[in-house]
Amino acid sequence: MLKILIFGKNFFSIEKIIYFMSANKESWGTRIGLILAMAGNAVGLGNFLRFPVQAVQNGGGAFIIPYLICFLVMGIPLLLIEWGIGRHGGQFGHHSTPFMMQSLDKRRIWKYIGVFGIFSNIGIAAYYCFIESWTLSYAMHSAMGTFFDKTQPQVVEFFDHYVSVNHTVLLPFEAVIFYILCLFLNVYILSKGLSQGIEKVAKILMPLLIVFGIFLAIKSLSIKAGEQGATFDGVMGLNFLWTPDYSSIANPRVWLNAAGQVFFTLSIGMGSVHCFASFVKQNDDIALNSMTAGWTNEFVEVVLGSSIIIPVAIGYLGIDKLKELAELGGLAIGFRTMPYLFDQWGHIFGAVAGVMWFGLLFFAGITSSLAMGMPVMSFMKDEYGFSQKKAAYTFGLITLLLGLPTVFFFKQGVFDEYDFWTGTVSLFVFAAAETILFVWVFGMKKGWAEISRGADIKLPVIYKYIMKFVTPVFLLAVFFGAIFKPEKNDWSGAFSKLFSGEGWSLDNGSIIKQILNSELREKIAATSDLVLREELQEKLFLSIGAKILLATVFLVIAFFVHKAAKRKNILTSHQ
Ligand code: PHE
Repeated sequence: MLKILIFGKNFFSIEKIIYFMSANKESWGTRIGLILAMAGNAVGLGNFLRFPVQAVQNGGGAFIIPYLICFLVMGIPLLLIEWGIGRHGGQFGHHSTPFMMQSLDKRRIWKYIGVFGIFSNIGIAAYYCFIESWTLSYAMHSAMGTFFDKTQPQVVEFFDHYVSVNHTVLLPFEAVIFYILCLFLNVYILSKGLSQGIEKVAKILMPLLIVFGIFLAIKSLSIKAGEQGATFDGVMGLNFLWTPDYSSIANPRVWLNAAGQVFFTLSIGMGSVHCFASFVKQNDDIALNSMTAGWTNEFVEVVLGSSIIIPVAIGYLGIDKLKELAELGGLAIGFRTMPYLFDQWGHIFGAVAGVMWFGLLFFAGITSSLAMGMPVMSFMKDEYGFSQKKAAYTFGLITLLLGLPTVFFFKQGVFDEYDFWTGTVSLFVFAAAETILFVWVFGMKKGWAEISRGADIKLPVIYKYIMKFVTPVFLLAVFFGAIFKPEKNDWSGAFSKLFSGEGWSLDNGSIIKQILNSELREKIAATSDLVLREELQEKLFLSIGAKILLATVFLVIAFFVHKAAKRKNILTSHQ
């Protein structure tokens, strides 16, 4: 039962409160629409760009075992928990995490932890939409034949030019235009609402994405050595990825990266799953729905995601070159190599493949960025009575303002800074907190009943125990691992040093050193080259600036959450 207590100076009429609570009366049109939208939320650039790069960087077959285990012991439990928290919160009229979390436990702290569920979405959307906008531009260029007969270095140069500040207009001109266009498309769809916007788009784009993906995967895997300029067979890529390397199980670095990938790809620890689930009716199934959406994501990731970039790049360049590119290029690898590789299939077929590949990435990207908009907009609608349109445009504007630094200073690492804090660290913090809230504070008994209500499948009971013990331990281990990551990620070396009394030296990628910007400071201290020093100092300045900016965004959201709580003076509690 929902209790509404009104007290204090900020008295609001019941009508007003009811208005606030009913401003967001949307719901999903159909079950298939909900599942496709949820799958669209999860299936994103992470599946096609991030996963292959992570797999290559972490040794191919060495990555898969930790990845699958992380999916089973963290991915699935967190999906269930987030769908549970979401549907539960929806009954009280909450569609974003701060008040959803508060509806599970009255302590004030939860609503401030819930701020992460808005913050990550804004931060991720800012840089994610930038990559999404590249896909639009690259699809256009593929169709226009821009990449015909270009050599590999020329394709790389095209990319570098695309993201560089152009000296005549003082901005990366095309990149800015496409970024704004991409944001506008997002905002337009978001302004149409849940069932008329997001659901409709997912129903069209998700099947198309799967068709394009299957087509490209078949073509990529059937590359034959010696034909169309290929040096190796496409299936070599599959062998590289699917020949298990058991030694990796003892390597915490691989575990950290696998866990990070599972989080990113399933969109967990972010607040977007909660938001979509909050529009599900109280007694409608969430168990089967969440599993269908989650496993669809895994199909797209491990079957389709691993069957395009890896086999094509290995077919033409070999494993070593691909490893080298993965180290260098990160997410950009799909842009810096694929147009050249597709062109080896002939101009016409290459152009078609290019349009399909970048089109597929765009479909994957937009169905995810729409999901990032929803929790932010829902907060404005629920707590501040914004209309759908006003909320959509406000979200677009915030994303634009926060995203422009990533566009302008892409090469100086601002993009990576956002990705690290909002797309990695925040997710672990939030996921660990919500798991503790759901299984320990709210209680596993009630939690399990919440997840199972209306379920169309019987969930394996073992998950009750996994959720209660294994998931939190895993999450905390991963989180502490990231904070104290040792130098060069060499864990066994670090422990033996520790036990021999030499102390623990942190890696530059550890959270502690990232906060301190140690790597840049060391480099600045070490160089005597004035030009290089200036460049590094600029990077340091931007990196500190980006951190301050993100911290400010977090505090501003927390302030609005605080104000909303005060304004409503509503205490919600469950029976
Ligand atoms: N899961 C998406 C991907 O794999 C990313 C995402 C992040 C989606 C945040 C929604 C919210 O690319």
